[in-house]
Amino acid sequence: MKVLLLGSGGREHALAWKIAQSAKVEKLFIAPGNAGTQNVGENVDIKADDFEALKNFVVENGVDMVIVGPEDPLVKGVYDDFKNDERTKNVPVIGPSKSGAVLEGSKDFAKQFMKRHNIPTAKYETFDGTTVEEGLKFLETLKAPYVLKADGLCAGKGVLILPTLEEAKKEFKEMLGGMFGNASARVVIEEFLSGIECSVFALTDGKNYKILPEAKDYKRIGEHDTGLNTGGMGSVSPVPFATKEWMQKVEDRIIRPTVEGLAEENIEYKGFIFFGLINVEGEPMVIEYNCRMGDPETETVMLRLKSDIVDLFEGVAEGNLDKRDIEFDERAAVCVMLVSGGYPQAYAKGYEITGLDKVEDSVVFHAGTKMQNGKVVTNGGRVIAVSSYGKDKSEALQNSFTQAQKIEFTDKYFRRDIGQDL
Ligand code: AMP
Ligand code: GLY
Repeated sequence: MKVLLLGSGGREHALAWKIAQSAKVEKLFIAPGNAGTQNVGENVDIKADDFEALKNFVVENGVDMVIVGPEDPLVKGVYDDFKNDERTKNVPVIGPSKSGAVLEGSKDFAKQFMKRHNIPTAKYETFDGTTVEEGLKFLETLKAPYVLKADGLCAGKGVLILPTLEEAKKEFKEMLGGMFGNASARVVIEEFLSGIECSVFALTDGKNYKILPEAKDYKRIGEHDTGLNTGGMGSVSPVPFATKEWMQKVEDRIIRPTVEGLAEENIEYKGFIFFGLINVEGEPMVIEYNCRMGDPETETVMLRLKSDIVDLFEGVAEGNLDKRDIEFDERAAVCVMLVSGGYPQAYAKGYEITGLDKVEDSVVFHAGTKMQNGKVVTNGGRVIAVSSYGKDKSEALQNSFTQAQKIEFTDKYFRRDIGQDL
């Protein structure tokens, strides 16, 4: 079968790497891809949200299945767009419909959904420009620190955690005043939850679901979780506190009610659900939903997924995911992200990356790279994910750190404490 994958980051290289291993796949296209995805498939120069061009490509090339990596095309309705076009309505798109992607696209919708279905999450209320006073009063009923969330998509920057009531009130007014443009026209204020986070992923056909290996990501730029938030500096799987018993609670209280809730509300959802969880004294609670896989979690989760991912995608498309097997690799997997100096603030692009051919025993996933005059050069903040197996987490980390030293580019930086807190 011919498969088209949308996106261009480390997550997409990891998905492409896994898809390319399937015996069912005769041809893999990635739109637009990066310098790494071209080693496992063919890059196509179309943006992931240019639906007209994507549909034309699918029709002209006889593509049998479309897999969506990032949230942006999903929130914009790529699933519905393909379905509503006579030419592409029978080509399965793996990813939720526009109404399903709202789980990620609107924090307020996600919170209301969880409330309707009794899914454990932090206490909250939502405010807009007409309820500023009420919002300020609600803040006074909470304890520090204060959590403010822009309702809409903000490329991961829409959540503020403020240490004092005074700062919280000031930022709340600024958010409603347009700090994140239209995305913060509504603001969710919620109770702060204390605990360690864990990312859990399910793949659903709208009725059945399969749970993938869990992972923990490291979001801050500095070691020991200091400094600014990034897109993710590394990840580890498995997560020690995600025991069988804990995962059973996650399934019973969170995953099953979510899948059933979507079905009850007639929300079409055939794709990944990312549960951003926090472990509060042994009890899992939902911090957020995403309508796609995580990045850099995918760069470890794909290493631990033994089964043919395309077989699972077929189960999603055909609505018989319950008939498909999912098996995990018992080894640990970790990912260490090499980033551009200065990231997540200003950084330079276009530096040559060398040493990629010296890497042994690790899997190198490209995140922000491109080909320029026959050379691989940096093309983003997060540049390369070095993913490794180990008999345990320490061995896997040792492998990634050893291999990470061999890859060179100007001002390369990576965290050396990934996984140390677990
Ligand atoms: P989100 O975009 O909702 O995942 O929020 C970004 C980050 O903010 C999360 O990964 C958490 O680290 C933190 N966060 C969000 N909501 C809460 C909360 N209610 N309590 C504590 N931390 C939170
Ligand atoms: N690693 C978190 C995310 O992908 O949103």
